[in-house]
Amino acid sequence: MKKRSWAEPYKIKMVELLKMTTKEEREKAIAEAGFNTFLLKSEDVYIDLLTDSGVGAMSDRQWSGIMMGDEAYAGSRNFYHLRDTIEDYYSYKFTVPTHQGRGAENILSQILIKDGDYVPGNMYFTTTRLHQELAGGTFVDIIIDEAHDPVSPHPFKGNVDFNKLNQLVEKVGAKKIPYVCIATCVNMAGGQPISLENLRELKNWCSKHEILLVHDMTRVAENAYFIQQREEGYQDKSVKQIVHEICSLTDAATMSSKKDAMVNIGGFLAMNDEALYEKACELVVVYEGLHTYGGMAGRDMEALAIGITESVQDDHMAARIGQIAYLGECLEAEGVPIVKPYGGHAIFLDAKAILPNIPQSQYPAQALAAALYVESGIRAMERGVVSAGRNKETGEDHMPKLELVRLTIPRRVYTQAHMDVTAESVVEVMKNADQVKGLRFVYEPNMLRFFQGRFEQVG
Ligand code: F0G
Repeated sequence: MKKRSWAEPYKIKMVELLKMTTKEEREKAIAEAGFNTFLLKSEDVYIDLLTDSGVGAMSDRQWSGIMMGDEAYAGSRNFYHLRDTIEDYYSYKFTVPTHQGRGAENILSQILIKDGDYVPGNMYFTTTRLHQELAGGTFVDIIIDEAHDPVSPHPFKGNVDFNKLNQLVEKVGAKKIPYVCIATCVNMAGGQPISLENLRELKNWCSKHEILLVHDMTRVAENAYFIQQREEGYQDKSVKQIVHEICSLTDAATMSSKKDAMVNIGGFLAMNDEALYEKACELVVVYEGLHTYGGMAGRDMEALAIGITESVQDDHMAARIGQIAYLGECLEAEGVPIVKPYGGHAIFLDAKAILPNIPQSQYPAQALAAALYVESGIRAMERGVVSAGRNKETGEDHMPKLELVRLTIPRRVYTQAHMDVTAESVVEVMKNADQVKGLRFVYEPNMLRFFQGRFEQVG
């Protein structure tokens, strides 16, 4: 059959010009940034694949929503629009806006976690785990083993391993587990989905043990698209229907709206239980703002409500995931080792395989991200031992099996030609892998060290 291509379901109305830099300028910039791409100035970056968070392109409809902001301190019209949209699309009855995802994680962790509790999750996320720990909890990884294997072709690497979950209950007892935290399209596993079959089983398991099921729904639409493409029985369901079904299986959710929902800032905590909502309202006024704006401007809540409706369109999702798969195919064709299957928001380079001469203790993924920037002005992010941080008991580095560099694709921002340039640049770095040097910390923050840590080259 003749190939049928996807194309973006939008056209470009406004552009932002990019600065091109020389290799000498980039060498200086990365050294000044302590070999940490988070510390680069954005204007020194050509193609910015640091994250998909807050960097999407809003639509003309979202921008017109910005003009409809009701900036009342209390009871903004945009809050009610947002709340109703969340109930319609995501099923949750009560919404507490927050300035972004971690604001919601903070409130939820403080309400539900007691000192000495355990919080199982399908792989950790940096800020999520930290809030669980700050509230006195210990995170326990219950994702299937395949998720830790970059080359396993498992279609649902975000799935939960019930043996791991049962072992935890046997060891600590269900009373010590306030909730199971489940992420859709698991970021740290490489943007990998959980299946509805697994989630349904998890829902039953949680009901049986009287444990809440909390949903990190940051990338739920991307997960829903993978279900539509891969899970039996869902081919004729829309992304919108699948998103609703996923959410309906869970009790509460934390959301970073800066991803799926394509706004530059914002998030929320949502739930069905009124008592939990009341507790969240008490805390949101302490950390974020009144419960009808919780850290967001009225205009931003309006743009978010509109973004939610756009995020679940099938053609949007086909183009979104299609672009990432395109980059993946370009890299694979050149033999670059990447996490398979392709992720929902990013392609993840296997830094251990690309830089076999750098031991994990010298942060190969951090070194690879820095080398890619020097090569071409492309900014990526480390997702390996630096992101994993230290074990809170032993003080030793966590040594994750996955030592990755994330090429994260912002939504509706870059073209196919940008993807070509990206793939070519990675290939060039790989060709000269023996020239890339390992790194060591010269400044290491105590928490979330990947954001502000500084390094120097070894040797
Ligand atoms: N959960 C997941 C799965 C995330 O990916 C993020 C953010 C958060 C929670 C926290 O949300 O940033 O709005 O406070 N991830 C960004 C990233 C930072 O680049 O992956 P936030």
